[in-house]
Amino acid sequence: MSAQYGSFVTNEPGVGQLEGDYVLVLNGPNLNLLGTREPSVYGRTTLAEIAAELATVALSADPPLRIEHVQSNHEGHLVDTIQTLGPGSAGIIINPGALTHYSIALRDALAAVGISTIEVHLSNIHAREEFRHHSVIAPVVLGQIAGLGPDGYRLALQHLIASRLSDGGNR
Ligand code: DQA
Repeated sequence: MSAQYGSFVTNEPGVGQLEGDYVLVLNGPNLNLLGTREPSVYGRTTLAEIAAELATVALSADPPLRIEHVQSNHEGHLVDTIQTLGPGSAGIIINPGALTHYSIALRDALAAVGISTIEVHLSNIHAREEFRHHSVIAPVVLGQIAGLGPDGYRLALQHLIASRLSDGGNR
């Protein structure tokens, strides 16, 4: 399967027009296979289900937010997306998949845009093989959530929503 793009945009009037009214959700290689990929590690929830839940949470924020969701198996596409959609967003939630462990390009893109970013992993990378313990992304993000399954994405979004309310976007 090639790159998947999903824009979970609501049709609510007034939602989706302003800069900073969306959270960019990025998922890296192989996360399009969630639901069937190693369910004992990653669970049975699909990426579409995760994205739909995020869209619901975002829409119930006050003021409401949209989710711009991009999944790609290609590092360069993720870099391009961070450069184009990152700067106008209210925050970024990223599960870089295996790129977590070696993509300096992704790390540099996140550092360059300087938008509040939360790194999410479904599994507890620190309790798995040693090569997963190190994240090259972690030093340039606000925080990392690992091991909480799909809840990690929701918790990340709730944090971004709460900090948008308290500091006007933290950008
Ligand atoms: C992952 C952990 C990574 O080590 C792995 O390569 C993934 C998924 C996670 O969500 O637990 O693809 O990011």
